[in-house]
Amino acid sequence: MNFKSHALSLAEFTAYYSPLWNKEIMNEYPESVTDYPREWVDLLQELSDEELFDVDCKRPVEKLKGTSFETFMRTIKALCDIPKITSVPELPLEDWAFQGVKKKKRHEIQKIVPVLKKVRDEKKFDYVVDIGGGVGHLSRVLSHYHGIPSISIDQNVEFQKIGIGRLKKFRKIEGAQDVTFMNITFGKKEDAPELEKIFNKHSLGLGLHTCGVLANTLIQNTIDHHTMGLLNFGCCYHTLKAHIDFPLSSFYKENNYPVLNLYGFTLATRSHAETTLDAYKTKVRVKNYRYAFHLFLMKNFGKKNFIEVGECHLSTYWKPFHIYISEKLNFLGLKHEFTNEDFDLFYDSKEIQKNLRVMFLCNVIRWQLGRVLEIYLQVDRCLYLEENGYEVKLEQYFEESLSPRNLGILALNN
Ligand SMILES: C[S@@+](CC[C@H](N)C(=O)[O-])C[C@H]1O[C@@H](n2cnc3c(N)ncnc32)[C@H](O)[C@@H]1O
Repeated sequence: MNFKSHALSLAEFTAYYSPLWNKEIMNEYPESVTDYPREWVDLLQELSDEELFDVDCKRPVEKLKGTSFETFMRTIKALCDIPKITSVPELPLEDWAFQGVKKKKRHEIQKIVPVLKKVRDEKKFDYVVDIGGGVGHLSRVLSHYHGIPSISIDQNVEFQKIGIGRLKKFRKIEGAQDVTFMNITFGKKEDAPELEKIFNKHSLGLGLHTCGVLANTLIQNTIDHHTMGLLNFGCCYHTLKAHIDFPLSSFYKENNYPVLNLYGFTLATRSHAETTLDAYKTKVRVKNYRYAFHLFLMKNFGKKNFIEVGECHLSTYWKPFHIYISEKLNFLGLKHEFTNEDFDLFYDSKEIQKNLRVMFLCNVIRWQLGRVLEIYLQVDRCLYLEENGYEVKLEQYFEESLSPRNLGILALNN
């Protein structure tokens, strides 16, 4: 992939649609909805639940053919067209090797292992250092069943205790190599001497879902220690800090490419996986109740800014509105004299229902942008590695439906 030319297309698109991603609809309502093309909202108003669900899943919808909204969706599809890993056959492994490993994790491991084996055949690295390895499923499978030694680093000692227990419990096969657990906080100055011993030109860094800045730390350490390279899958971008953690590359900085803010990072973190129609209907209901509560607070308590209102059981959203709102007002400690009937009348009123619909439709438009922002962010990381002498590939490793954070950066030294 030519990262620079792709970055340019992504940056232009990201800049053009910044009014949509750089704020949350509810936080700045009613001004926020005025940023959305009226004709798109009107078009979406005409769709059935099933058709809107298709739009949310980024599937083409007949009624949208030939419209500017369809062009918008097509552009997104093209920008998000990241190649899938060339299907290296999965290495056969008995079920017992994955005992206690969730379906999602098993799928991820099965996709990563053949790629790493191929890289090892070519580059002859000595071992992998699995950063944020957690309980060490990936390291164990790599070392015990595929002969690649591994060091699993995590700051969570409890996870590692479980992992060490598992090493003893599971049988190995001929040619099995060692898994070493190291309890350190990757990137912390005090732990640098320990890291020095293992992070070097003979090692390959591995990060399966390195949250937020942990991915950056892995990238920087790869460069600083001149390691063989890395294979990294990022996640939890909402914890990144604008201008500090993003952008990394000189290319983005010199060209003044748009810098994502908290809302952009959060949107990039959204799951892009397809869901079921039932899950979609629940999402509509959850949003409606949450937004109706916000509108109620605006109208009756003069509160315009976003307020954290806590979680509630999913079943609450299918009960009458007064049950939900009473719970939330209670949570916020707001005294009032409204009756249950007042609450339900508010929610069912034509005006509120109309507003909620528009807010939801704007969200359907906004959510389309999540994957573009994620790729925009990943391409910056790729460019930074390229600028520092690595040969880089960005590919989709996992089925999105099983593991939506499926973009892997493979960077190898020349
Ligand atoms: C999303 S989990 C991924 C776990 C594992 N790689 C997997 O795929 O199942 C992220 C892990 O990174 C660990 N972690 C986060 N920051 C870390 C740091 N600075 N140093 C070491 N471990 C860290 C957490 O404790 C957690 O186990």
